[in-house]
Amino acid sequence: MNTDVSAPNARQASAEAFTADVEPHLIVIFGGTGDLAHRKLLPALYNLLSAREFADTIEVLAVATSDRTDEEYRESVGEALKDAGIEGSEQWCAEFLHYQSLKPGYDQLASRIASIEKSSGLPGNRVFYLAIPPQVFDDTIKGLGEAGLASGPGKVKVVIEKPFGDDLESASELNRILFECFDETQIYRIDHYLAKETVQNLMAFRFGNPLFEASWNRVGIESVQITFEEDIGIAGRARYFDRSGIIRDVIQNHLLQVLTIVAMESPVQLDQMSIRDEKVKVLRAISPLRPEEVVRGQYTSANGELGYLEEEGVPNDSVTETYAAVRFMIDNWRWQGVPFYLQAGKRLEERLTRVTIVFRGPPVYLFDRDGHRQAEPNVLHIILQPNEGFDLRFQMKTPGEGYDLATESLGYRYADSFADLPPAYETLLADVLIGDQTLFVRSDEVEEAWRIVDPILDASDKPHGYPVGTKGPIEGDRIPALDGDRWID
Ligand code: BG6
Repeated sequence: MNTDVSAPNARQASAEAFTADVEPHLIVIFGGTGDLAHRKLLPALYNLLSAREFADTIEVLAVATSDRTDEEYRESVGEALKDAGIEGSEQWCAEFLHYQSLKPGYDQLASRIASIEKSSGLPGNRVFYLAIPPQVFDDTIKGLGEAGLASGPGKVKVVIEKPFGDDLESASELNRILFECFDETQIYRIDHYLAKETVQNLMAFRFGNPLFEASWNRVGIESVQITFEEDIGIAGRARYFDRSGIIRDVIQNHLLQVLTIVAMESPVQLDQMSIRDEKVKVLRAISPLRPEEVVRGQYTSANGELGYLEEEGVPNDSVTETYAAVRFMIDNWRWQGVPFYLQAGKRLEERLTRVTIVFRGPPVYLFDRDGHRQAEPNVLHIILQPNEGFDLRFQMKTPGEGYDLATESLGYRYADSFADLPPAYETLLADVLIGDQTLFVRSDEVEEAWRIVDPILDASDKPHGYPVGTKGPIEGDRIPALDGDRWID
């Protein structure tokens, strides 16, 4: 653990780069009274904007369906910011935060936008942030279009939260509706995993360290394992989660995005088009999943903790999966024959998101012990959260006679070099303001990801049970066993 206060602060460095590029904007948050706005967006915006020279060139207009005054809204945001550990936000709220009810309609909203821009001297750059339930995406996008808000005197951008559709058909339809009003350069589809510093570092790790490149392929790698474990459950979101399940909730988006970065070719340059082009090529090379490549689970009560079916709002015959293990095969030159196993679940033993690269063993095994091969593979664990860092496992001779091997590891932890990592939402909001779409998902990427998981959505058979606090259902082992492998700890 690093206690050196002079350690470089990633947040400060990115803040400086950001300050130079940002133009004045009005940020319009749809769903301004909702949980996402209060818990994530407004604290992130406040942290991003406060203490920056341009803080007074960004105004925020929250929009929702209820009636309330600016003052009432500011009060509720002040409380939410306090809950997020932010004190002294009153002046910022009073000066830069406004509220508009959507009840009178979009024309009224357009007038309010024009009036704020006029009184604050803003040039008409607008961000429409849709922090709303997906059922109202369509109407909101159409409303913006019909009120003439999809283009404006300045740059207009629209930010869409997940879920982006709930299968291939609905995602394509949502893209179609968006394209009636906006073009791709205006659309920012959020996947907050892309903004995690450790996920971005996957690219730096791969393309900044040629050491690993020679074996980063089917010749050097036996399998890739991506693990997403959460100890929390559905956190009161039964209505959403029961219709979603873990495959839609994190595999189709966050984990497939991580997979593409692990598997992609080097982009020609580090610009948004080159990076997104390489990522989508990986997705295109993945065949749609087959039922035998998936195992589903659902947590059951244990040690006095509720099982999924006892959670408030979950139907007692629900077959929604809270755990899934899946195998993806990438049908291209680099990855032919290398399985990518993914495992994701709620209410598991611990919180851990990790990519594990299992390298191929030596071509000839020299080291036997009592007639058994000592054949632990080299393993690279890339830990995305928590305790972010890397561990590279290798074999060592233990001191003494003969050749007894033991597994040791080289480790690195971010916390040893960097004081803190910027929260994902701050990074995403900064990129929207700058106009950098690299960390947002393009229309073809989102549709390809749905194409891959589409055949395994909405299974009707009962998932395998696993007690809360365990590693998931034992049947999950069937996925690596498809290729004679096992999950690596
Ligand atoms: C969200 C999912 O997108 O990601 C949640 O809806 C999940 O169910 C969350 O808990 C995980 O994000 P993080 O950043 O905590 O790993």
